[in-house]
Amino acid sequence: MAIPETLRWDGDSLALIDQTRLPAELCWVTCTTPEETAEAIRAMVVRGAPAIGVAAAWGMALAAREAVALPRDAALERLRAAASTLAAARPTAVNLAWALATVLAQAEASPGDGAALATVVTREARRLHDADVATNQAIGRAGLAVMPEGAKVLTHCNAGALATAGYGTAVGVLRAAHEAGRRLHVWVDETRPYWQGARLTAWELVQLGIPATLVTDGMAAHFMARGAVDRVVVGADRIAANGDTANKIGTYGLAVLAAAHGIPFYVAAPCSTFDLTMPTGADIPIEERPAEELTHVWGRRLAAEGVGVANPGFDVTPARLIAGIITEAGVLEAPFEPALQAALAATNRSYSAT
Ligand code: MRU
Repeated sequence: MAIPETLRWDGDSLALIDQTRLPAELCWVTCTTPEETAEAIRAMVVRGAPAIGVAAAWGMALAAREAVALPRDAALERLRAAASTLAAARPTAVNLAWALATVLAQAEASPGDGAALATVVTREARRLHDADVATNQAIGRAGLAVMPEGAKVLTHCNAGALATAGYGTAVGVLRAAHEAGRRLHVWVDETRPYWQGARLTAWELVQLGIPATLVTDGMAAHFMARGAVDRVVVGADRIAANGDTANKIGTYGLAVLAAAHGIPFYVAAPCSTFDLTMPTGADIPIEERPAEELTHVWGRRLAAEGVGVANPGFDVTPARLIAGIITEAGVLEAPFEPALQAALAATNRSYSAT
């Protein structure tokens, strides 16, 4: 089965695959307002940095529809309010703020009343959606340089089609190598505590026919020590100017393990994940997630009553542990600061968050 579209604009509503139900059920959640879209992002119906950016852009299109009969100033006010609601849904992935800033800037720079702005905003959301798929395919092509025949690759969380508007970033790299006829074996970290690896990446790789083995997060060292892993590729939620990279909790540990075993560790991400306003990863906001994700498994309490819980959703991998950042502008290597700047210039992007 081909992987269905993560997000689908139906003309007056946004349909999202409900990623909280996969793989047991493939069903969609419909959003008709920016508030419903923000709630879908917060509740992780849609998740993954690029996907939440594109969902937020469509959330702006829903706000613009509501403002279609308003004069210009009132319509812009509605769009700004929607942008701040959407931006507050999740803190770590910078693609969210980037997509909102991009759509809002386009509306502010365009003339006309609410009806004219609705056309502009919807067109911009469509452009970001389509550009994300094309960008991920370019990341996949760039990744061929580091994904040889027979590669034994470990990945973490889900950085696949479901985490994007389509094709995926880290899984996109695996997919491009598979499509190029290279035989791979993929080790899929289950990715505690929310299981994006077990539920989503494993599902995608099965659909794609890429050989894969599910392992617990704690098994990575064991398989690395036995020579069963020869590279790691993960996605990213925010990359600071020096290359420090925030990604799903557990990523930093994998990078340390990879260094200890002499295994190259790659990050695959679009340039929209760069945040050059942050000199290092130390300032990246880290989402603290609900305690129930640790204490309960699918509604059933497993943890002892009364124990304290810490549940950061992300960690920061220092740039010195990263062999390369695979982007639509090629594979970037240290020193990362000039490489990130050059990649942004090459893709004609500038970063400005709301
Ligand atoms: O909490 P999530 O599931 O949104 O976290 C997702 C990740 O950490 C992904 O690895 C990252 O966003 C890259 S997605 C292409």
